[in-house]
Amino acid sequence: MRMLEGGIGEEGPRLKVLFDEAARRRALMEEARAGLTAMPKALSPRWLYDERGSLLFEEITRLEVYYPTRRERAILRAYAREIARLTRAETLVELGSGTSEKTRMLLTALSDLGTLRRFVPFDVSAATLRASMTRLRRDYPHLLLEGVVGDFEHHLQAIRGDDRRLIAFLGGTIGNLEPAPRARFLREVARTMKVGDALLLGTDLVKARERLLAAYDDPEGVTAAFNLNVLYVLNRELGARFDVPRFEHRVRFDEERAWIEMSLRSRCAQVVPVTALGLQVPFAEGEALRTEISAKFRPEQVQAELAAAGLRMMDWWTDDGGEFGVSLSTRR
Ligand code: AVJ
Repeated sequence: MRMLEGGIGEEGPRLKVLFDEAARRRALMEEARAGLTAMPKALSPRWLYDERGSLLFEEITRLEVYYPTRRERAILRAYAREIARLTRAETLVELGSGTSEKTRMLLTALSDLGTLRRFVPFDVSAATLRASMTRLRRDYPHLLLEGVVGDFEHHLQAIRGDDRRLIAFLGGTIGNLEPAPRARFLREVARTMKVGDALLLGTDLVKARERLLAAYDDPEGVTAAFNLNVLYVLNRELGARFDVPRFEHRVRFDEERAWIEMSLRSRCAQVVPVTALGLQVPFAEGEALRTEISAKFRPEQVQAELAAAGLRMMDWWTDDGGEFGVSLSTRR
């Protein structure tokens, strides 16, 4: 663990870097080697979020067809005060915080109630975190800001603490994890919680496949650009030579597993050198490289998965259309 940036003066925002450039690079090399030589080929969605990828994702959240952000925001707008009263949190931790845009409703509600002292945004992207913390410091000058650059599958030990905590994991990002790593992740979260702490979890819900597919394949092509961007990441960071126009954005909904699968499909038979890994990666025409899954949930399933991790769902809120769900749980 390393403190890269202590505050300059007392009120300077702190950034704890658990996932630094070297660790990030090691993980990328390991996962790219495993994923590009696997059958079928797959990469973790975390590599989608370099600086450009994070900006493209933000653009996605403003798209008409991408309903999850808007739905979750509506839920938080309606219930932030109730969540504040129920949790009386002194510290708000946000996993996968990104720009913390929706979280501001929680920050405001908990500040108005008078319990909140600290905000811990936790994200893989140092650049995103820095930019977001600068704005938060301006808008919430009384808050102690302690950013963590980390990977929520590996660095949850960083969010332990003695005060009353609300851990928020919003946006439906938990859907990026397959069932086994998801169960592991929830157990880890539960383990970092004390009695009195709470978990606020956003989950995208199962719905008509057309609606789901449209959300991940917008006509403006922003999601396609977001998906294809991972090839530039591999080119830049691993000296790969992906010819990006030779790949196309693909989305399918796996009904049985109830998840959206986003992939890059090779438009032709080709071999891609990845210099840093000493690999020549062959693609057949039409072969897919999976870049993300985004699981969709049923309410009973969310409750069951939380229970299996040792958590009790105390509250469940959805938007008017029942498209998105937010749950509040405590340790059993
Ligand atoms: C940020 C993981 C919640 O799965 O909907 C958006 C990412 N991918 N469009 C999602 C995403 C394609 C998003 N999460």
